[in-house]
Amino acid sequence: MAKFVLSIDQGTTSSRSILFNHDGEVEAVAQLEFTQYFPQSGWVEHDANEIWQTQLRTMEEVLEKAGVAVDDLVAIGITNQRETVLLWDRETGEPIANAIVWQDRRTAEACKSMRGTSEEVAISAITGLRLDPYFSATKVQWLLDNVQGARKRAEAGELCMGTIDSWLVYQLTGGEKHVTDASNASRTLLYNLRTGDWDDALLEQFKVPRAVLPEIVDSSGDVGKWRGVPIAGIAGDQQAALFGQGCFEPGMAKNTYGTGCFLLMHTGERIVQSKNQLLTTVAWQLNGKREYCLEGSVFVAGSLFQWLRDGLHLFKDVDELNELAQSVEDSGEVVIVPALAGLGAPHWDPFARGLITGLSRGTSKAHICRAAMEAVAFQVVELRECMQRDAQREIIELRVDGGACASDLLMQIQADLMGADLMRPKDLETTAFGAAALAGLAVGFWSIESKAVGQRGGGKKFTPMIESEQREVLRSNWDKAVRRAKL
Ligand code: G3P
Repeated sequence: MAKFVLSIDQGTTSSRSILFNHDGEVEAVAQLEFTQYFPQSGWVEHDANEIWQTQLRTMEEVLEKAGVAVDDLVAIGITNQRETVLLWDRETGEPIANAIVWQDRRTAEACKSMRGTSEEVAISAITGLRLDPYFSATKVQWLLDNVQGARKRAEAGELCMGTIDSWLVYQLTGGEKHVTDASNASRTLLYNLRTGDWDDALLEQFKVPRAVLPEIVDSSGDVGKWRGVPIAGIAGDQQAALFGQGCFEPGMAKNTYGTGCFLLMHTGERIVQSKNQLLTTVAWQLNGKREYCLEGSVFVAGSLFQWLRDGLHLFKDVDELNELAQSVEDSGEVVIVPALAGLGAPHWDPFARGLITGLSRGTSKAHICRAAMEAVAFQVVELRECMQRDAQREIIELRVDGGACASDLLMQIQADLMGADLMRPKDLETTAFGAAALAGLAVGFWSIESKAVGQRGGGKKFTPMIESEQREVLRSNWDKAVRRAKL
């Protein structure tokens, strides 16, 4: 009887479930979008109950679609949008407020007030991250300070804090387990990269009581059951994609085009502290042993296309976006800086706002679509440059994945602006597969040598086709526009 691994991919805009067979191939996919709440400018929230309900429905739907019974599952892997955080009642499982999403900037002023202090330096050294509203700690602090009675209940041990992996495990196990894996813990700004544990000084700094914290577990290992099936893999979505791309050796890197763009390079057991505005984070923890990576995170990539579609109604779908962008030879000097949620790496300016420059009477929406693709690509170019400087080596062939990289045009623009090759795998479900692989390894369904796990072949290579002079002109226009976007 054929057996399967069920991967849960809980992203920023949708809950998805993907079923993988023993060859590592996708058997079926189910996906549901859920509500995005924008209660104030710069605020982004999710209803955690809706996340759980949509997730559960996709799990049931994917099994039904594939005609697979729960008994045919060997394991479940979870991967999730990272940093998004919530507090819930330990007994009833009821969230005390909406989850605060990673894109939310409500704590920007609080972070700014600590800029340049010795605390800021210490926080970065311990966590490998930056004092930025992106990470969970200041969001938790905000919830504890602003939801009535929360702090008192937290101190009394009545509340659980969790990133989305933690929340899903709690729900899947009927409230039995309150855990998170090391890759997710390393995104909270409360985790010490060297000890692999929550850090007392940081808990004190952000006034988070230890009583609310989940137990930190391996990224691969049985942590509890859903309907009898072991939940055996957990990783933040970007780390899962790194694993799913088979980037197991130091120096191997991937870029995922999702809501944002995330470029991660594996650095093995070495903690490489960035000198170029990148982050250092846990890649995964296996058998108690941590491996690390360098990460460049930009906040707006796919969400720029979404905004052009839903906010400005420039096109109705991805096909039309591609057609429009393809219909012009270049962006006609239009440059978009997509600082719709501030700027992430390497600029780290939560107050920056988006802009479009170079408009003229000849500008058409086709130019704007093309400029949007260039904007996404330029952000990745900047990340790659920082990464190469930190790692002191060249990323010869960047591996890419994520929804938007299905566009040949975007990939060609990326290779052109980067001046280097990139490789797109045949199967773009690398994030979901990474979580499935971590789970499958834990239960012995696969081994690290399995063909399904390490050598996901096929795919297409993109090679630069423009001259370096042209690249330099475009780059200089981009740099100028970025300077203007900063406040
Ligand atoms: O750090 C945020 C990241 O995990 C979000 O990923 O796939 O929802 O864009 P995604």
